[in-house]
Amino acid sequence: MATTDTMTPAQFVAGLPKAELHMHIEGSIEPGLFLRLAERNSVALRWDSEEALRAAYRFTDLQDFLDLYYDGCRVLVRAEDFHDVTRDYLRRAHADGVLHAEMFLGVQGHTSRGVPLDMVMNGVLGAMAKAQAEDGIGAGLIVVAQRHRSEEEALAMLEALRPWYPRLLGFGLGGAEVGHPPSKFAAFFRRCRALGFKVVAHAGEEGPAAYVREALDLLRVERLDHGNACIDDPALVAALAASRVPLTMCPLSNLRLGVVDSLAAHPLKRLLDAGVCVTVNSDDPSYFGGYVNDNYLACQQALGLDNAALATLARNSFEAAFMPEAQRLDALARINAWVSRSEGVAA
Ligand code: HPA
Ligand code: ZN
Repeated sequence: MATTDTMTPAQFVAGLPKAELHMHIEGSIEPGLFLRLAERNSVALRWDSEEALRAAYRFTDLQDFLDLYYDGCRVLVRAEDFHDVTRDYLRRAHADGVLHAEMFLGVQGHTSRGVPLDMVMNGVLGAMAKAQAEDGIGAGLIVVAQRHRSEEEALAMLEALRPWYPRLLGFGLGGAEVGHPPSKFAAFFRRCRALGFKVVAHAGEEGPAAYVREALDLLRVERLDHGNACIDDPALVAALAASRVPLTMCPLSNLRLGVVDSLAAHPLKRLLDAGVCVTVNSDDPSYFGGYVNDNYLACQQALGLDNAALATLARNSFEAAFMPEAQRLDALARINAWVSRSEGVAA
């Protein structure tokens, strides 16, 4: 049995049961699959090797990343393509100890290229069912509206998704943040909530703390994606700690997009210490150099997190997850068992 003496932080993180709540399916196409899909669909690329692709993954900011990310989506054409990328991500997540994954899908980036909505949805939902059957991983789907598009387009997307409502967890908001405040989508979010969906939004990644407040007060989101900028507004941090509205933070993404200058400067630990329900996630793992465990470990090293703090992050992920209560309690019990085992206590 592993004890405190023998269990490294990497082993502790690897065996820690966790939920991942902030990742974009389109941001998980690994370079190898990317090249295979391009060939399968006869899509011309500027890169001809995995090394060349990886070398291109250097970004100055969010828009610089989004330009490459949207361009990369061109390799996703048929249901099989959406299936393969989703199945690959869920396999990796399962290997990382993820029991429950909530994934973002930006359908407008596909339908606007002429890909039929049923290709997108059938591919993704089929892979989720397969992953559940083969690996036992629970997966939910959150469709994100692209904030550079109009609210009318978001409402039209919502209407087009009607046949899939029973299989969707909720709706979110992603893409270019600055200049597209949450208030632009107030009616869209009102409609999503009226339909009974969970609602989340990216806010405070590049945008200011005021956008975080808008997402909470106007959109009435149940979770904030990123939320970094709240750290500039102490009253907002106190309100988040009191309400326990979770933040799905993505440290390696923030580093790669210049949201923080270094991981040591990341607000995650300060927010955790303030009592905010902070969670750790990968965002776009193939572009930002790490899956969820890589993110936990990078934080552990840069911020000096001990096992208790890492376990708190994992507990927070299940507190924040949109999952049935019995599964949540089971996951929390599994975390306790793993912590006991790491301390050399029989679980
Ligand atoms: N921010 C906003 N939109 C996104 C991101 C992100 O980090 N990744 C994919 N879409
Ligand atoms: Zn994101």
